[in-house]
Amino acid sequence: MELHLSVNGTPRTSEIEPRMLLVHHLRETLGLTGTKVGCDTSTCGACTVLLDGESVKSCTVFAAQVAGSEVTTIEGLAGDGELTPMQQAFHTHHGLQCGFCTSGMVMAATSLLEEIPNPTEEQVRTGLEGNLCRCTGYHNIVKAVLSVAGGEAR
Ligand code: FES
Ligand code: FES
Repeated sequence: MELHLSVNGTPRTSEIEPRMLLVHHLRETLGLTGTKVGCDTSTCGACTVLLDGESVKSCTVFAAQVAGSEVTTIEGLAGDGELTPMQQAFHTHHGLQCGFCTSGMVMAATSLLEEIPNPTEEQVRTGLEGNLCRCTGYHNIVKAVLSVAGGEAR
């Protein structure tokens, strides 16, 4: 089938299998490999992207289901090589180690602050519950997110 999507602000038309998952479409058809696949159980959040501004796990939806939507991936955040405040905060606060979870974390955190601009530490931890990190112990991730919101982690 023919699929029309806007991806990172650019209209994209592709011929896809109706059963193709959005994450596979992004990675395999469009070559946007910043979005990761970390599980096959919808639990890790490594595949998180923004769909019309809301964070979704892109392994849980078919590409065909989101026809006509605007999808933002990690590649769509930094404009002209300039990191977004959230990306910069992950860098500054060492909110990553191996980096596998990072694009999903940054997308989920970006969406979280859209919803709750001044979250408490508790709200950040709860908001990122769907994103797993095996490396950092989460503390520096929470610190990074709170720093963008102007707060501090305990
Ligand atoms: S790949 Fe793990 S939740 Fe999507
Ligand atoms: S930095 Fe390695 S999984 Fe999060």
